[in-house]
Amino acid sequence: MLRLFSVFLLAMFFALPAYAQEAEPAPDRSATGGAQTLEDIMRRQQGLEVDNSFRSSNTGNPTGGASPTDQLGTLGGASDPDLWRGLRFDSADITTQIQHPAATVLIQDTGMWWLQFREGPLTKYGFGLVLGTMALLVLFYLIRGRIRIDGEKTGRKILRFKSIERFAHWLLAGSFILLGLTGVISLLGRNFLIPALGPEGFSTIAIGAKWVHNNVSWAFMLAIVMIFVLWVVHNLPHRSDINWLLKGGGIFGGGHPPARKFNAGQKFIFWSVIILGGSISASGLSLLFPFELPMFAATFEKLNQFGIPQLLGLGELNTNLAPHTEMQYAQLWHAIVSFVLFAIVIAHIYIGSVGMEGAYDAMGSGEVEEQWAREHHSLWVEEVKSKEAKAGGSS
Ligand code: HEM
Repeated sequence: MLRLFSVFLLAMFFALPAYAQEAEPAPDRSATGGAQTLEDIMRRQQGLEVDNSFRSSNTGNPTGGASPTDQLGTLGGASDPDLWRGLRFDSADITTQIQHPAATVLIQDTGMWWLQFREGPLTKYGFGLVLGTMALLVLFYLIRGRIRIDGEKTGRKILRFKSIERFAHWLLAGSFILLGLTGVISLLGRNFLIPALGPEGFSTIAIGAKWVHNNVSWAFMLAIVMIFVLWVVHNLPHRSDINWLLKGGGIFGGGHPPARKFNAGQKFIFWSVIILGGSISASGLSLLFPFELPMFAATFEKLNQFGIPQLLGLGELNTNLAPHTEMQYAQLWHAIVSFVLFAIVIAHIYIGSVGMEGAYDAMGSGEVEEQWAREHHSLWVEEVKSKEAKAGGSS
């Protein structure tokens, strides 16, 4: 299930740029003897896709030629242009003294696409999503107002979350918010901080933000593991979830559909944090240890095996990715999934604080008003009471 969901998200992500660029028939290159034409150059200048296969495979016969490492070797079967194409399309046989996964890549070809996507759609839609969610919540608040405790308060309290659960939650929340703020500074702080603080001031903040981001990430990962272990049993699907969903959680005057410890809405939050937070952590680790943990070529191979890109009309995804291309995909994926999780978590913060009377106490003191619990988690209250009765009976 988890794998399928990730595969689906990835497939949607990689479908986007392909749809943004219309495919056109390959131009006739007979006039240039198979070399690139004016049309190719014009398409590239317009930012349109150019099928480079006519060049990437046109690398002469490198095995018949002298090795590029030989001193003053004759060119033999590989001419200069053949060799440069081999370097550009990462098929030349390079050896370096530096033993590093990325050291043999002398020309890397996908940098501009990455930079433009990062500064364009990623920033625009990422912030659009987060600000749009905030605007919707303000609208929701204006229409629905604060969800109040309907019945008479009892004055009795029920323990909802133990201190270890609250510790894990606040570790997750605190680290996530710090990571979000420092991540935004890394992504586009230069755009608004350099004009305000100058390059020197920004440099100090950027170095600090990167340090915080790299180190706080461990707290986030630990917190994810903790909440998974503590809450997974309460977040497995249950038949009461169907009724809860059909009644829309009773948000618009539909009463209070019964729920166990977590209702279907909260289960959605939980699994979003686990799956999206897990994916952010995986791509984050890939960024934290540059070139050491490439993940995308292997994922593309799996996607191709499932036949998903083919189903979307994208053909097989390229699984021969240069180390830098792996890093670029990791950066984009990390940022996109973080924006999505941020938007989900903003809705969660709203409902856990100003949106609902009595909810915050669950994570504040750990104890909630019994009437609140009866209204929002009636099946859980019954479970707690029957456990108490059993414990009382047996003592
Ligand atoms: C900083 C503001 C936040 C507030 C005020 C807040 C509040 C709460 C409250 C009151 C609950 C318990 C709800 C209940 O009793 O049923 C809760 C649960 C939870 N929180 Fe938060 N939270 C915050 C941030 C976060 C963040 C940043 C994350 C994840 C990145 C997160 C993840 C969760 C999860 C997974 C649960 C359990 C499922 C749920 O109740 O939705 N929280 N939070």
